Amino acid sequence: MPAKLNARPLGLGLRDVLCVGVGGMPLSRPGRPEESDAIKVIHASLDAGVTLLDTADVYSIDEDDLGHNERLFAKALRSWEGASDSITVATKGGMTRTGQEWGRDGRPEHIKVACERSLKALGVERITLYQYHSPDDRVAFKDSVGAFKDLQDEGKIKHIGLSNVSVEQIKEAEKIVTVCTVQNRLNPFFREAIEEGVLDYCEERGIGFLAYSPVGGGRLNKKLPDHPVVHEIAKRHGMSEHSVVLTWVLSRSPSVIVIPAARRIESALDSIKAAGATLPEEDLAAITNAEFSRA
Ligand SMILES: NC(=O)c1ccc[n+]([C@@H]2O[C@H](COP(=O)([O-])OP(=O)(O)OC[C@H]3O[C@@H](n4cnc5c(N)ncnc54)[C@H](OP(=O)(O)O)[C@@H]3O)[C@@H](O)[C@H]2O)c1
Repeated sequence: MPAKLNARPLGLGLRDVLCVGVGGMPLSRPGRPEESDAIKVIHASLDAGVTLLDTADVYSIDEDDLGHNERLFAKALRSWEGASDSITVATKGGMTRTGQEWGRDGRPEHIKVACERSLKALGVERITLYQYHSPDDRVAFKDSVGAFKDLQDEGKIKHIGLSNVSVEQIKEAEKIVTVCTVQNRLNPFFREAIEEGVLDYCEERGIGFLAYSPVGGGRLNKKLPDHPVVHEIAKRHGMSEHSVVLTWVLSRSPSVIVIPAARRIESALDSIKAAGATLPEEDLAAITNAEFSRA
């Protein structure tokens, strides 16, 4: 019998979602699969129980293709045979795509234009969870967050999330809006969210923590099968190395939701297994204490 898949609260005021969501970035950036194949990956994930899709306006080839990933998710949801209203789509604004470069633009006027574009790309009247993608040093953080408050007051977005933020920034935003989620990187190679207190703060406040690049990202995830500690644990439990790592990330706090990405159905389905997996404390500690080279 398959293990029971676990749901967790997505964040303050948001409904529960499967603790393994889907991140959409590699389905839209260079190297992306054909649209029909990408939709098969999304449908397979939804069929397996995923209820959270994470996207952004800038998940695209370049500036002429902005909104590609949002349109892709919207199209996949329209053609999915399940109940699409049970799926939460979270998107982000506040970045730019110039050629293949990522940039930041936290000016309120940019955030407002980006939100309109995302509403259109997603084909919705209100975005369920709109996240400020990455603070822009050139703009006062409170002004960027203020734009999110305006959008909420206008009914264009329901809940507000932050991404790539420190505890101080979360506290600053909390003076203006209810911060429902925080999306920062967390995997065994990059543990700043733990070391700098963001994860603890989210847990204390009931803020959902969306762990991005949870298996290490597009490059480092490829090193996992050769990692001696992860490999040994995976072999002993009959799990994949990726699933072992996702289980470790999920075990860091009950506030964590992981959002791994996949261009292949096999990766997607394997990652979802982590939603029902557990590992003994000694195995989790072995991963915590192991070295993970970023080289
Ligand atoms: N807020 C931000 O600033 C930010 C930044 C980066 C990412 N994100 C979000 O987080 C999501 C995930 O991050 P990411 O794409 O950087 O990295 P990731 O999920 O850590 O790694 C993705 C890669 O890992 C492979 N993979 C995943 N699960 C696997 C499995 N079970 N078995 C084998 N291979 C597996 C996939 O391979 P295949 O493609 O071959 O299937 C995929 O290319 C993004 O899509 C995006 O939604 C947010």
